[in-house]
Amino acid sequence: MSEVASGEVVRSEAVSSEVPAIRLQDVGRDFRRPRRSLTQAPPVVHAVRGVTLDIERGERFGIVGESGSGKSTLLRMICGLDRPTSGSIEVEGRPIHNQPAARLGWLRHTLQLVFQDPMSSLDPRMRVRDIVAEPLVAQGQGSGAARRARVVELLEAVGLSADSADRYPHQFSGGQRQRISVARALAPGPDILVADEPVSALDVSVRAQVLNLIDDVVDGFDLTLVFVSHDLSVVRHVCDRVAVMRQGEFVEVAPTEQLYADPRHPYTQQLVSAIPDLHAALDGRAAADLARAVRERSPDA
Ligand SMILES: Nc1ncnc2c1ncn2[C@@H]1O[C@H](COP(=O)(O)OP(=O)(O)O)[C@@H](O)[C@H]1O
Ligand SMILES: [Mg+2]
Repeated sequence: MSEVASGEVVRSEAVSSEVPAIRLQDVGRDFRRPRRSLTQAPPVVHAVRGVTLDIERGERFGIVGESGSGKSTLLRMICGLDRPTSGSIEVEGRPIHNQPAARLGWLRHTLQLVFQDPMSSLDPRMRVRDIVAEPLVAQGQGSGAARRARVVELLEAVGLSADSADRYPHQFSGGQRQRISVARALAPGPDILVADEPVSALDVSVRAQVLNLIDDVVDGFDLTLVFVSHDLSVVRHVCDRVAVMRQGEFVEVAPTEQLYADPRHPYTQQLVSAIPDLHAALDGRAAADLARAVRERSPDA
């Protein structure tokens, strides 16, 4: 633990003079539910409440919490897809909470998203080549030939062959489709990758492979990662600091190993003690599956 703690100190000193990748100050988001009667005010859901946080450049930040705790709402605001009811959000020092969508074009270069379900986030009528190139086309980056070359480079970076470009999403397995989503997210050369439950819809056997991929691209492309999951064992795999979210609030934020070894908040303690030895089981199973897939040259490897 002291090792982790001192590592943190060194890191925060090293970056203290830099602008954080993401800065949240007292961020809140309320939703109004439909009115139940004419005489009562419509009920309000406080989906996110008073979240203050700096995510440093190069950090791998995890957010865990049960379903409905506000994780996706917070991510949507970080990505400029929704606006906070209160507080402020800056990405690389630039405010996004008070800007119209038309003035957030730069954000799509800087920050990209990977969603939970690749089947619903990939257009089934588009070839992989066009899916991956879509952010480049949308931003007018590169000529046709340059874009085609970039697509091949990106597919190879996520472990897919160049001829995948001519196929359609349904011709791939779930794990491969998530690789396509990652390739598309990398296309504009973002600094920040935001992933909302990226492995939750996948078979346990391919989860570790996709997590390893995320690990590799964050390293290889020098990214800041914001990773959301309801599953603590998944977050542990890829993050170096974790926030535990409950009913819209962060109840604890700590370096990953410290959070798991010495959870402070009773809710975190409850979550950590509820993790079966799934982490070890997942590692063991994934390693065995990977070995088998390599032997059999399974398309999922
Ligand atoms: N567009 C919306 N309209 C009304 N309520 C919403 C909306 N989006 C989210 N909520 C509510 O906000 C809370 C947090 O939801 P969400 O951020 O999706 O949680 P999580 O991603 O942690 O499962 C939930 O109570 C949800 O019902
Ligand atoms: Mg969610």
